[in-house]
Amino acid sequence: MAIKTDRHALEAHISPTIAANTKRLLLSDLVSSDKIDQVPSNYIRPISQRPNLQNVYHDHTIPLIDLHDLSTPNRSHVVQQIGRACRDYGFFQVKNHGVPESTISNMMNIAREFFKLPEEERLKTYSDDPTKTTRLSTSFNIRTEKVANWRDFLRLHCHPLHDYIHEWPTNPEAFRDHVAEYCRSARGLALVLVEAISESLGLERDYINRQLGNHGQHMALNYYPPCPQPDLTYGLPGHTDLNLITILLQDEVPGLQVLRNGNWVAVDPVPNTFIINIGDQVQVLSNDKYKSVLHRAVVNCEKERISIPTFYCPSRDAVIGPASELVSGDEPAVYRQFTYGEYYDKFWNRGLATENCLDMFTVTSSSS
Ligand code: OGA
Ligand code: NI
Repeated sequence: MAIKTDRHALEAHISPTIAANTKRLLLSDLVSSDKIDQVPSNYIRPISQRPNLQNVYHDHTIPLIDLHDLSTPNRSHVVQQIGRACRDYGFFQVKNHGVPESTISNMMNIAREFFKLPEEERLKTYSDDPTKTTRLSTSFNIRTEKVANWRDFLRLHCHPLHDYIHEWPTNPEAFRDHVAEYCRSARGLALVLVEAISESLGLERDYINRQLGNHGQHMALNYYPPCPQPDLTYGLPGHTDLNLITILLQDEVPGLQVLRNGNWVAVDPVPNTFIINIGDQVQVLSNDKYKSVLHRAVVNCEKERISIPTFYCPSRDAVIGPASELVSGDEPAVYRQFTYGEYYDKFWNRGLATENCLDMFTVTSSSS
């Protein structure tokens, strides 16, 4: 890769540790410094695993649910819609969700500003250790994966806020304020959704929230640079989310696709809505009534894309298993009990492998 003149210009401004690295730590810096017109070989998927972008459905989508009526006598109607979406799709969009537009735009703008900071500024939080509670990294898990993904990401733990906020970046200056405000608001929405999901399963409204120990909340700021050959690689390959529910904020650039009846369906952005998907922990708690669905992020040649998932989850010590009300002689428990910490560690150690992490926690699994 021809980087000679750029490299000299850059070396004058960046710290010796970064300059000593001939290999860029972050994809965004590789893309912007080397002006690459081909995907480097470590990002190329074997032919059988490529995204096959011509075969994606663009005329189907996931349900859009208006949450306004959750606080009216019509609540049960909304709960039913949520239950149906969880059962049939594993995914839905929400409007009238209660997160102010200004909170959303501040969050998106600060994420965009963060990824535009100079390399040495962003790299202050760089780490490839998935146990770090605040870290900037690239791909998915570079310690375990064989093929890299076309993504950089900043991952933050954000509940309880006061345990983590001191680790967060202070540049851009408003980062902590805007992100904390967004986290509080997204948490409010998560609690409301988890109540509705609990009710839709015929459980007490607060049943699931009571299973989550002290609760946890993580988020990712995903940055997908433009990609010269988007049909050879992924932003994120097909995976399920390991947490309880995910609240995804995305900018105006499409990229998310959801597996439905064996076909990939594009979920294009709708302004001021969130995309909600249930994760592995809801699949376990519901004893397989609701399925944690495969989804992926693809990239495109022209535009960078930012997406910001909030991963609502149990705390590490919370014990998760199928709700006893949903287990019977006809429907025996599919999963054994485990702590969320055990699940979390197994998920990250396995990388984003194609096999489902849930399989390691079934009652019949020998690997437990
Ligand atoms: C994720 C994810 C989708 C997207 O971060 O788990 O599925 O559109 N992201 O970025
Ligand atoms: Ni995901």
